[in-house]
Amino acid sequence: MELYIPAILGFDVIPASFSPETTSGGTMIVSPDANIVFASQSLSNVLGFSRKELEPKPLSDLVSEESQPLLQAELLHARNGFCERRAIHFRRKDGGYVSANIAISRSFKSWMVGVSFDGDLPNHRPAPSNDNIYEKLEMANTLVRLVHPETYHHQIRVSDLSVAIARGMQLGELDIEDLFIAARWHDVGKILTEPLGLLDKQGPLTIEEFTELQRHVNRGVRIIRSILPSSARTKTICRVVGQHHMHINGSGYPDNLTGEALLLLSKILTVADVADSMLYPRAYRMKPPGLERTLDALESGRGDLYDGDAVDICAGFLRSGRFQPTWSSDGGMLAVG
Ligand SMILES: [Fe+2]
Ligand SMILES: [Fe+2]
Repeated sequence: MELYIPAILGFDVIPASFSPETTSGGTMIVSPDANIVFASQSLSNVLGFSRKELEPKPLSDLVSEESQPLLQAELLHARNGFCERRAIHFRRKDGGYVSANIAISRSFKSWMVGVSFDGDLPNHRPAPSNDNIYEKLEMANTLVRLVHPETYHHQIRVSDLSVAIARGMQLGELDIEDLFIAARWHDVGKILTEPLGLLDKQGPLTIEEFTELQRHVNRGVRIIRSILPSSARTKTICRVVGQHHMHINGSGYPDNLTGEALLLLSKILTVADVADSMLYPRAYRMKPPGLERTLDALESGRGDLYDGDAVDICAGFLRSGRFQPTWSSDGGMLAVG
């Protein structure tokens, strides 16, 4: 069985060979202190632990006594920038063991662990392709949460608000699902910002810094393309992400598409993105402009910058108090009252 060096997200994420539907394998993301923060469903199926049981677990708890030195050696190897295939024994919940090859690579503030089990495994169930999209989405967002938690929370809130606006506009459920995925990932490209501290920089930016920040759009599209299977749906999701900073009048970036050339889903995402950015504190601007200025910005750009219907519905939500900026353990989901 071939094991590839993980090369996920265009830098070092997961190759297709680790994709849950194609191999008896799985993927984990492990924090710097060696705790599992993400485990794929296929891994959970084979080991017999639920994902909830796996995700706070130390990685070493899953490995047999005799394999511990190999695991430590592989972590050390990865810390030095190398990635090598190693055969180890994983411990299953039922007390049995299963042998596997692992490859660990360093990925931002985490370890990416690719696992490939030996032989046929009765509990290995390929994930349906839709579940697989969500699993990959969740995995990529785990990386975002580790690298820049503020972006992670922003994406969650924006996707919730985008979906609410789309429902208010009576879009079909398939479109709404595409919008949800695009919104959940729309700023994923920010994790490639160089240097990362630029995301939190207060005060004026140089032209070069501003240009670097704007690159998050095309970087995000590249990341999504590298993760999702090529399909009409992926194309739509990429277009929505690629257009989320474009405006109806052709202003915005990275391109100057106007009016009809912009997808309705992108226009909805843009409105939700602007609203969230003005309602919540960000590290670069701790005091947010607040509700009145948010409404003013959206309504003064109505029809010129932003889609009129999306603005009306969003402003209606904000005025009615049905969507309130609230803080929760999950980073401030917008509460529907
Ligand atoms: Fe953005
Ligand atoms: Fe955003």
